[in-house]
Amino acid sequence: MSELTVRPYTEDLFDEVHRTFTSAFLRDPESADADWFRSDMEPDRISVAFDQDELVGIATILTREMTLPGAVSAPVAAVTTVAVKPWHRRRGALTRLMHVQLHALHEQKGEPFAALWASEGSIYGRFGYSVAAEYASVSIPSAVPFRPGTNTGHNRVREVPRTEALPLMTALHDKLLTRHPGWLARTERSWRWRLWDQPRARNGASMLRFAVHPDGYAFFRTRNNWEDRGPASKIEIQELVAATPSAHAALWRYLLDMDQVREVTTSVAPNDPVLLMLHDPRQAIRRIVDSLWIRLVDIDRALPLRKYSAPLDTVFDITDTFCPWNEGRWRLVIDPEGTAAIERATTEPDFALDITDLGAVFLGGVRLTDLAAAGRVTELVPGTVTRAGRAFLGDTAPHCLEVF
Ligand SMILES: CC(C)(COP(=O)(O)OP(=O)(O)OC[C@H]1O[C@@H](n2cnc3c(N)ncnc32)[C@H](O)[C@@H]1OP(=O)(O)O)[C@@H](O)C(=O)NCCC(=O)NCCS
Repeated sequence: MSELTVRPYTEDLFDEVHRTFTSAFLRDPESADADWFRSDMEPDRISVAFDQDELVGIATILTREMTLPGAVSAPVAAVTTVAVKPWHRRRGALTRLMHVQLHALHEQKGEPFAALWASEGSIYGRFGYSVAAEYASVSIPSAVPFRPGTNTGHNRVREVPRTEALPLMTALHDKLLTRHPGWLARTERSWRWRLWDQPRARNGASMLRFAVHPDGYAFFRTRNNWEDRGPASKIEIQELVAATPSAHAALWRYLLDMDQVREVTTSVAPNDPVLLMLHDPRQAIRRIVDSLWIRLVDIDRALPLRKYSAPLDTVFDITDTFCPWNEGRWRLVIDPEGTAAIERATTEPDFALDITDLGAVFLGGVRLTDLAAAGRVTELVPGTVTRAGRAFLGDTAPHCLEVF
C-alpha cells in the first residue's frame, strides 16, 4: 500500500482513466461511449491513484444538491466512477482514494456529506457509508384496475417530442424538488446525462418516449415482444413524476392501458402511490434494493442542514475510525421548529452509535429504533433512542430518481 499515491486528474490522463473505468466495469473499451463518460465528469474533482507510474484507480465527485427532510436542498458530494483496474485490486487503491476524498472534503470545508450508489453492498460500510434510502423495482401487469374511485382527472396524457417535453419536465422537476428527500437538483448537464439516448443506452429497447400531463410527466422505453397468443411487449418507465394524485394516476393509467403491452416495469420509492392505487395490490411484484448510501463528512456541519420532526435535547457518543474528527460526544438540540444545533459535549451520553448509523438516518427514512434492534445503536439511558428516532424520522420516505 505504501507505494500508492493519489494525484489530481489532468486531461492527458483521459484515455487511461477511461480504460480503467471500462476494465473495472467489464465494458468493451472499443464500444463504450467515451463522450457519455466525459459528459459526466468534473475534471477538477477526479482523484487518480497511481502505483508508482501506473494509473491504477479513479474516484470522482459530482457537485450536486440533494433534498433533505424539511424541504431544504443542500450541497452533496455525489461520489461516482469508482474503479480500480482488475489487475491492481485488493491492494488498497480504493481505500487510498476514499481517504483522500473524505479528508479533502473535511479540510477544505467542501460538501458536509457524501452520497453514492454502491455496485456491491459490502464495499462502502468500512468507509462510513450506510444505506439511507431504498427503491422498489416493480412489475405491474398491464390493464390492472385501480381501486374504485381512483381519480384520474380530466386532463389528457399525450406524447410529445423530447424538445417539447424537456421544458415541461425541467419546470415540474424544479417545482417538486424540495418535496422529495433524496432528489437531486438538475442542471442542463445533468438533464442531458439523465436523458442520454444513444443506441447503446437503450439496451435493446426503444428510444425514449415522453408522456406529458399538465401536472406530470413520464419518460419510458418500450421493449417489443410477440408470443403465440399475441403481443407481449413491455414498457420500462425510466421516470414518472407527478404533482398531484390525479396526475400520478392518469400517467400510470395511460401506460398500463397501452395496447400490445403485457407488463409495465419501473423503479420507484418503496411507498410510491401507485402501489396503493391498485385494486389488487398483490399484482405489483416488488423487489426492494438499496439506493443511496450516505456518509456524513463532518457531523457538526451536516446535521444542522436538515429539519427534524420533533424537539430533542440529547448527547450521543460517536465512533468513526476513518474520519476521526467526528469521534466523541456531541450534544444535539432541536427546537420546536425542527432546527438543529450541535456542539461538543462533556456530559454522559444517552446512546452510542457509529458514523454509519447517523448516515443511515440522515435522510429520514431509517428508524434509529430499528438500528438499535439490530444492535447497531446502544441505548445507555432508557427511552432516549425512541425519542431521538422520532426526531430523525421524516414525513416522506427518501428516494433518488437517478443512479449517478
Ligand atoms: C470495488 C473496487 C473499487 C475495490 O477496489 P480495491 O482497490 O480492490 O479495494 P481495496 O484494496 O482498497 O479494498 C479495501 C477493502 O475493501 C474490500 N473490498 C474491496 N472491494 C470489495 C468488493 N467488491 N466486495 C467486498 N469487499 C471488497 C477489500 O477486501 C478490502 O478489505 P479489508 O480492508 O478488510 O482488507 C474494485 O474492485 C473495482 O473497481 N470493482 C469494479 C467496479 C466497481 O464495482 N466499483 C465500485 C462502484 S460503486
